[in-house]
Amino acid sequence: MIRLDKFLCEMEIGTRSQVKDIVKKGMVSVDGEVVKKADYKFDETAAKVCVNGKELSYQKFYYYMLNKPQGVVSATIDNHDKTVLDLLKDAPGKDLFPVGRLDKDTEGLLLITNDGELSHNLLSPKKHVDKTYLVETKVAVTEEMIHKLEQGVDIGEEQLTLPAKAERIEDKKIELTITEGKFHQVKRMLKAVNNEVIYLKRLSMGSLKLDDTLALGEYRCLTDNEVLELKGK
Ligand code: URA
Repeated sequence: MIRLDKFLCEMEIGTRSQVKDIVKKGMVSVDGEVVKKADYKFDETAAKVCVNGKELSYQKFYYYMLNKPQGVVSATIDNHDKTVLDLLKDAPGKDLFPVGRLDKDTEGLLLITNDGELSHNLLSPKKHVDKTYLVETKVAVTEEMIHKLEQGVDIGEEQLTLPAKAERIEDKKIELTITEGKFHQVKRMLKAVNNEVIYLKRLSMGSLKLDDTLALGEYRCLTDNEVLELKGK
């Protein structure tokens, strides 16, 4: 439920005092009835709101994929560094936030939304959502390293990492798919097999794949299908 004046401000109809005035003058209707009270509360996800007879189309949730560049932090605000939200400052949508974190020096797919439920489902440790990373390493990745990464390694947590999938691309390049999201997990996993990450890029999260037409720092809205797939529908 939302107040009519707040809703109209969010829809960028005018300032708080302008929208109050519009409402008082009887220019706004909700579900076909003229409403003259600015504090009138209604369900913005279901109601049909018209201003001067013209229907407003309301979108509650927004979904963007960002190709995160290095040097930008996965936060909504930061005192020192540029944030991923600074890259989306012209994108419509209130209360956007990144779904999970990529390190400052990690590139690639980051989902930005204001849908808390979807975010929770994607990040829940119980859901084991696949995350695939392109990993460039300091030294060549041996068969033994691949085997260990796939079995589970000791990164200093109570338990070994869950089984992962590691596919060699080149001597010093693998694609690693993990189902957890521990702090610095990929870097710690490579360290645990006596190697080191020198470049990291996320390629996918669940069903969502990074659009390779997006340059670093660019973003786009998810398609309806991408959103439905992420929600498992
Ligand atoms: N694992 C890491 O070590 N860093 C990231 O940014 C993501 C996964």
